[in-house]
Amino acid sequence: MLIMDALTALDSLLRNLQAGVKSVGMYPPTHPTAARFLARIVEDLDTILSERESLVLGVVDHALVGVGLPFTGTEAIAQAFAARLEQRGIGSIEFLRGCSPQDVSQCVQLLAMSPEALGGLGAVDEVLSRRGVRAIHLSHQVPTMDAEEKQAEEKEPTGADKEGEGGGGEAGLGRSLTVYHEAVGTAKRILTEARLGKIPSLAEAQAAVSELVDGVFQDQNAMLALTLIKSYDEYLFNHSVNVSVLCIALGQALGLDAETIRELGLGALLHDIGKVHWPETLYQKPRGLSDEEWALVQRHPLDGAGIVEKMGPTSPTAMEVILEHHLRYDRKGYPIVDSDKEPGFFGMIAQLADAYDAITTARIYQNAFEPCKAMARLQSLAGTVFDPKLLEVFIRMVGIYPVGSLVRLSTGEMALVVKANPTDSSRPFVRLLFDRSGRRLADEQGVDLTEREPGTGQFRRTIIMAVDPASKNFDVAEYLQQRGRAAGSPSTG
Ligand SMILES: [Fe+2]
Ligand SMILES: [Fe+2]
Repeated sequence: MLIMDALTALDSLLRNLQAGVKSVGMYPPTHPTAARFLARIVEDLDTILSERESLVLGVVDHALVGVGLPFTGTEAIAQAFAARLEQRGIGSIEFLRGCSPQDVSQCVQLLAMSPEALGGLGAVDEVLSRRGVRAIHLSHQVPTMDAEEKQAEEKEPTGADKEGEGGGGEAGLGRSLTVYHEAVGTAKRILTEARLGKIPSLAEAQAAVSELVDGVFQDQNAMLALTLIKSYDEYLFNHSVNVSVLCIALGQALGLDAETIRELGLGALLHDIGKVHWPETLYQKPRGLSDEEWALVQRHPLDGAGIVEKMGPTSPTAMEVILEHHLRYDRKGYPIVDSDKEPGFFGMIAQLADAYDAITTARIYQNAFEPCKAMARLQSLAGTVFDPKLLEVFIRMVGIYPVGSLVRLSTGEMALVVKANPTDSSRPFVRLLFDRSGRRLADEQGVDLTEREPGTGQFRRTIIMAVDPASKNFDVAEYLQQRGRAAGSPSTG
């Protein structure tokens, strides 16, 4: 099953739960309206539980969370459902694989009750089992580590010392940071020369891309993490390198050959070179464009291709990236093309990478999306703006909690995602940054979220939710740069 199917089913489940609860409040559960929603809930649960044992929905900091499966749906619905649970003293609901329509009906009927009526039935933890429901559990506790796991952890300090991050580790990050910054320097020189009307060096661009390709091959996670570096003042230079890195990584994930990946990366590095003709004010202006300004915006892929042509012979792959990075999957966007033209494969790769980098960047006119929310945003546009198959590969590559996401774990700790896990996108490798009382850890440890307790076989840690780094006053890009610099600097002892 595709990850996107599970995410879509979770979104649908929540809507149907809300609607189901409302209709059961008005009609008996056998009434066609109520029965329809109950059937849909069962269907959604079947989809979600086809590849996992259980689904836990809970309330953390007044927000609804799906443990191990982030919400990508409508915020208002999630909030309303979280409020319903909180008002009834329910911290979490666990749906186990195999829950029956009767189980679902009982659960929805309880959720439809007023807080007072439900309270009159006794402790929420037992109320479902007393009604014969075995495969859905309500708990007053918010999703967090249970008592047995806590004991196990106290006995066995953490088991978190394993080098879970793989890749090149600290030294790898230092190397990657050097490659990244050198590429930004190259992008700056090339774009500045183009702005001055000179013809930039194609060889220099190619050399920078070769370094980026090597960097991604050696340590993809470090390079992907570095794409979180966004420069507010020099946006275009970082953006050019970020899109190049994302395209190279996606090309690798798609199994393209090395030469094609280099051409893809080159096109991506130069994709916005046509913007050098823009007046400074246009960069900061997403809306309210004059006709002239809008014409300039729409022309930048063509202008860019014109500049790159003068730089020397480039492949059709690189040209397609430059020309088509604003063409959508449904053939809308710009430049305007015949409606029967097939979407270009490389153009679609670049368009996805470009959009992901753009929405994860803060601009004068937009707050940055956290990586996890950015994923949700892209997913909501699959099939119209983005190629759904490419998006699926992209999500597998960066994970549903992309590298660079700050996450809260079932232990109460907070961690930074440092490496995707291609076999289970909800269990990436992380680095512990804050302990359960929110204190910054002096000794950061890499942790593999697939690690289980030897005694119980349960997962030691599970992601509960993505956390907005700003809410913890934590600057992910700055953190990575510091770590990279520390790793890259010569040892003093
Ligand atoms: Fe562009
Ligand atoms: Fe762009």
